[in-house]
Amino acid sequence: MLRTNTCGELNLSHIGNKVTLAGWVQKTRNKGFMIWVDLRDRYGVTQIIFDEERSDKKTLEMAQNLGREFVIQVQGTVIERVSKNPNLPTGDIEILAESFQILNASKTPPFTIENETDGGEELRMQYRYLDIRRNPVRENLIFRSKVSLAIRNYLSAHNFIDVETPYLIKSTPEGARDFVVPSRMNSGEFYALPQSPQTFKQLLMVGGMDQYFQIVKCFRDEDLRADRQPEFTQIDCEMTFVEQEDILSRFEGLLKHLLKEIKGIEVSEFPRMTYAEAMKKYGNDKPDIRFGMEFAELNDIAQGKGFQVFDQQELIVGIAVPGAASYTRKQIDALIDWVKRPQIGANGLIWVKCNEDGSYKSSVDKFYSQDDLKSWASRVEAKAGDLILVMGGDANKTRGQLSDLRMEIAEQLGLRDPNVFAPLWVVDFPLLEWDEESKRFHAMHHPFTAPKPEQMSLLATDPGAVNANAYDLVLNGNEIGGGSIRIHDSEVQETMFDLLGFTKEEAQAQFGFLMEAFQYGAPPHGGIALGLDRLVAILGGQETIRDFIAFPKNNSGRDLMINAPAAIDSMQLEELNLALKQEE
Ligand code: AMO
Repeated sequence: MLRTNTCGELNLSHIGNKVTLAGWVQKTRNKGFMIWVDLRDRYGVTQIIFDEERSDKKTLEMAQNLGREFVIQVQGTVIERVSKNPNLPTGDIEILAESFQILNASKTPPFTIENETDGGEELRMQYRYLDIRRNPVRENLIFRSKVSLAIRNYLSAHNFIDVETPYLIKSTPEGARDFVVPSRMNSGEFYALPQSPQTFKQLLMVGGMDQYFQIVKCFRDEDLRADRQPEFTQIDCEMTFVEQEDILSRFEGLLKHLLKEIKGIEVSEFPRMTYAEAMKKYGNDKPDIRFGMEFAELNDIAQGKGFQVFDQQELIVGIAVPGAASYTRKQIDALIDWVKRPQIGANGLIWVKCNEDGSYKSSVDKFYSQDDLKSWASRVEAKAGDLILVMGGDANKTRGQLSDLRMEIAEQLGLRDPNVFAPLWVVDFPLLEWDEESKRFHAMHHPFTAPKPEQMSLLATDPGAVNANAYDLVLNGNEIGGGSIRIHDSEVQETMFDLLGFTKEEAQAQFGFLMEAFQYGAPPHGGIALGLDRLVAILGGQETIRDFIAFPKNNSGRDLMINAPAAIDSMQLEELNLALKQEE
């Protein structure tokens, strides 16, 4: 080893020890006769001291020229510091340098390698290896490794077997676009990178593996957001001979285990909410239940009172913002502007202040009596001092808009405390969702999800009304996992493809292998996949998954460090039989 110790472990108990450390020069302070160097490695920072009296002249001279991020190896003695730094684990000691070697010089880094850096996001992505030297990024990666290990331990302890599935596969329709890979040996044909190992894990169940897991990369060519990357990692799981309840309890156990191991937090039983209830109460199928502000529908008491804006609307819905009756006109106008932004797209927002004296002041006083407003307040459970906000419009759209507003206000009021963890299960998702544009049903989860057995007969008569044995795991307003009990009968699977608009031939061409497998004794099975990036970010108190991925892509899907994607040369294109197509 090039070192006897790391830069994070020496303390008063090591005084007098002769040590060799290696690391990066974080910073130097040079007083001419004395030079201090903060030496950093993954484990911490240790102060090195060179001085006129105790270090030899040549060493002192060489140390004058040390630049930031030089890699050095230092030999010296651990001594007690005169002025201690209580904020540093190694702050009681320093190393009196006897000699050192420069292992590698460094150009001046393009941004400061400190907790708070002056580097912008794009620059830091371009030099991600330097960003990783900074504490916050490094700690996030170490945190991710810990969470991964805890997951593996839990799943192994419960008899799950880690099986790898292929990355070069065939397109499976799961909502997003596929990334495709041209095949050199099969001219004109393409592999697709998996959006998830869905069909493979089901085939592992047919293969009798019983309980499978894999921490696996998945690829989806979709628009990117803070919680979405084109390649991301799933904790993908499948179980045989189980019902929905078995899966919920096993994975509730996993999240409880992680919260306890990683955060030291014990949570009780996770609440369950049906999809319908989540949409009605929160306008959202991944509600953040760390705070209230539940929706209340006001159609019967807000319509027919002369306020024509509301009279024609499908849904009138409101929330009570705690303690916000004191908002100024300016603050309220800011909220109105916020919902009118194109990203939200609302027409406006009606407000009612619930004054401390029991009276009400609203933007619609002309149309509604104090008694009317009192009944609104009672419906949305507003107390004196609260502000009621009401929107009207098309039901689905309005729910979505009010849901966005609810989250925004919670953010502003500091109600989204990253140290509070509020998991829940959203269950009973509809099996299918009607798409007006293509005039056909889409699978709400995916085409392999089983209908609720008691609603099987509805498939022929009213498929849109059928619910699925599908569930999502939600944590602090984020969907961190989703799964379902699967179809394991080839005829039901065929019916499902038919409902989704596949002809028999298309279904056969795309999924013949699966339907055939189902004819060789496919056991009942079901599973779930959790998004590791999201889970880790939320456990780490953040929502941007990029910060927990070693080499993430930017919002245009680019890796700025290696500059990918990139054109390939004409030879390669020719070999792949793509050259001609490009010219066309
Ligand atoms: P689903 O599509 O719901 O289910 O994905 C499972 C979980 O993966 C995470 N996730 C993502 N994370 C980061 N970036 C993305 N682009 C991204 N897309 C999804 C989410 C999500 O809950 N095969 C099924 C699972 C099953 O049925 O077992 C599936 O992939 O946290």
